[in-house]
Amino acid sequence: MDIKHNELIEKVRRLIEAVIFDLDGVIVSTDEYHYQAWQKLADDENIYFDRVINERLRGVGRMGCLEIILERATRDYTTEEKKELADRKNKYYRESLDKLSPADILPGVMEWLQTLKTKKIPAAIGSSSKNTGIILDRIELTDCFNVIISGNDVKKSKPDPEIFLLAAERLKVDPCRCLVVEDAVSGVEAGIAAGMKVLAVGYAREDKRAHMSAADLSKISFDELIQKEQKTKLKSNPD
Ligand code: BG6
Ligand code: MG
Repeated sequence: MDIKHNELIEKVRRLIEAVIFDLDGVIVSTDEYHYQAWQKLADDENIYFDRVINERLRGVGRMGCLEIILERATRDYTTEEKKELADRKNKYYRESLDKLSPADILPGVMEWLQTLKTKKIPAAIGSSSKNTGIILDRIELTDCFNVIISGNDVKKSKPDPEIFLLAAERLKVDPCRCLVVEDAVSGVEAGIAAGMKVLAVGYAREDKRAHMSAADLSKISFDELIQKEQKTKLKSNPD
């Protein structure tokens, strides 16, 4: 193996210097509680809503979600009414968070966090949710993340890259050395726009724009992901 090859291996070894996780649907199963709360609101208002429409809400901020739901409304809503609807949905959602516990952490998450800790690779949360703090407390993971960026810290929600770029800035890691883990099409788009590597899980795993995909985090370990990346890089730079 010549010096150039060794240098390349060293470069490839540092492919990922930080991991930014989405929260709802990646770390914890709160995506289902979001759906139930929106469904309840839509039923209150006699607006058609289903799980297919719900997929468009992943990663999108609260008011953005409401606008998507109101596409099926049979009348216009005033700004005040919209605010009341969003507050009511959040009230339903918060009620469901009362029963949230570490049992709701999704498969593979604890193993990933342990691996990152062992390897001293910082982990961050990049979520559009304004409920991020309370959720992390309830599932007892607050201390596992070096940086937490929530919907309270940004102006634009995904697919805008603001959340992920702010996370990278706080982590002091170059965006191109960050890995984003996402279950939302809007989140995959945000990760790509931020110039990051993207691992798509859950619903987003069919998204061809993601660099890698898996059904959930138990189906791919951090080490396997790095090995795959190394092989791809070494193959495209054979000399
Ligand atoms: C995202 C969810 O994580 O947070 C979206 O995927 C949700 O569905 C958004 O609308 C905002 O959440 P919250 O908790 O601030 O209403
Ligand atoms: Mg999500």
